[in-house]
Amino acid sequence: MAKPPVIIAPSILASDFSRLGEEVAAIEAAGADWVHVDVMDGHFVPNITIGPDVVKALRPHSRLPFDCHLMIAPADPYIEAFREAGADYISVHPEAGPHLNRTLKLIRKVGAKAGVVFNPSTDPSVIQWMMDEIDLILVMSINPGFGGQSFMHSQLRKIEALRAMIDREGRDIPLEVDGGVTPETAKLCIAAGATALVAGTAVFRGGPASYAANI
Ligand code: DX5
Ligand code: ZN
Repeated sequence: MAKPPVIIAPSILASDFSRLGEEVAAIEAAGADWVHVDVMDGHFVPNITIGPDVVKALRPHSRLPFDCHLMIAPADPYIEAFREAGADYISVHPEAGPHLNRTLKLIRKVGAKAGVVFNPSTDPSVIQWMMDEIDLILVMSINPGFGGQSFMHSQLRKIEALRAMIDREGRDIPLEVDGGVTPETAKLCIAAGATALVAGTAVFRGGPASYAANI
């Protein structure tokens, strides 16, 4: 079967944390494009997950780009540590700090690609005047904090709006969607203009023998 023309980024939040290295290797073998790493601090979002030391430990287990989604506030003091640990993309929520532009510049300065993440209530206009500083746009189709939630259809119009912003400026910025992505909602996201899909539950369901089919 031909590979779909979208980037598939499994979220290791839904993987077996006792075997993280093997899980990352297994999704690479199964055809994943990026590894999505959900970093939560129990402050910006009501859950705690993993930090740069875990990213560093995982780095030798995969050649895929590491797509690190920071749900932490503040983010700036940790950006260099995530880059040194092996993050390729580092994405931040505008609500995590007072100076989004400064944060994006810092991410590029340390050599990573800079992403902006939209909470369900965040308006596309927050990036209107800084398209030059952005390498990735990530639209949350759930409230951040937990895997396994239902896709918010209200976010499809936002994906369309961001697609139009990217195209109007003739830019080549991946437009990624995160939360409740399933084979059904994936089609809606792609139709709305998404080019990258995060999926936790839908990829890791059924264990390693199912990953290739799930992807
Ligand atoms: C939630 C995370 C998501 C989450 C997606 O805050 O950003 O990446 O793991 O999980 P599913 O695919 O199960 O909705
Ligand atoms: Zn995420």
